[in-house]
Amino acid sequence: MAIHGSSHRPRDWDAETYDSLPLPHARWAALTISRLRLTGSEHVVDFGCGTGRDTVRLLPMLPNGRVIAIDGSQRMLAALRARLGSDADRVQVLKADLSRPLPLDDPVDAVVSVATLHWLRDHSAVFRHIADTLRPGGQFVAEFGGYGNIATVTAALADVLGSEMPADVWNFPGPDETRRRLEGAGFTDISVDLAPDLVTFDNERQFEQYLHTVVLGGHMRSISRLQRVGLARSVATRLQRRELDYVRLRVNARRSHSLAEAAHVRTRALAATRSTHPRVD
Ligand SMILES: C[S@@+](CC[C@H](N)C(=O)[O-])C[C@H]1O[C@@H](n2cnc3c(N)ncnc32)[C@H](O)[C@@H]1O
Repeated sequence: MAIHGSSHRPRDWDAETYDSLPLPHARWAALTISRLRLTGSEHVVDFGCGTGRDTVRLLPMLPNGRVIAIDGSQRMLAALRARLGSDADRVQVLKADLSRPLPLDDPVDAVVSVATLHWLRDHSAVFRHIADTLRPGGQFVAEFGGYGNIATVTAALADVLGSEMPADVWNFPGPDETRRRLEGAGFTDISVDLAPDLVTFDNERQFEQYLHTVVLGGHMRSISRLQRVGLARSVATRLQRRELDYVRLRVNARRSHSLAEAAHVRTRALAATRSTHPRVD
């Protein structure tokens, strides 16, 4: 089965099927949002907002604030708009590529992101863009696939695709490299941890649909519809159990308060990198 290249450019997601699935994302989101410290008047970015479950969840926590919901998928954003109803005036909805600088004129108080960063290749750049969007002292809370995430799916995919297996569809980094990248982008008060989270599915049809729509979407973008159905089934068959061995990376950080603090954090991060990778010239 041929897979014709892979890309981290935004793609359109099947929003309707996504919302019909039993998503562990709702639980991950609840934990992530609970780590935000809000007074109620903040402007908060939902980075990779998808169909808006968390945008809507944030609104009652921000009676005098607003949410800026950003995503690259037209269909996800259409589902979000339908979900908003009368709250639409407190949400700014933006279609944008999250691997690029965020298209915002004014600094925001917080950025929250659920199950999105592992779709982006260059985390150093993404963290810099997020830091540039935050006011000094602004919060960044996120969760995404970390080192070892869905290792059994990777093994099953490699078995199915053989030499056609693309290497770079997902980006599942470890805590140390993530901490270094955050420091390099000028973040402080950083905490990063990895949490294994085994998720089990009730029936085969749902499991295949979940693989097809959520997990393997990046692999599927350039193969035929027939091949797509075949890929999810082949992977599900190889997995033997209807479960996914998720490992989530959880991040809390603050943008440095001042330029001096940011410069200090960057210098420290650079020194730490040099002592880990000494120059050989
Ligand atoms: C698994 S969904 C998570 C959505 C939502 N946060 C949730 O938890 O349900 C990942 C989201 O990231 C978005 N995304 C991935 N890569 C992107 C990119 N380069 N630019 C914009 N959006 C992107 C997708 O469109 C999708 O809505």
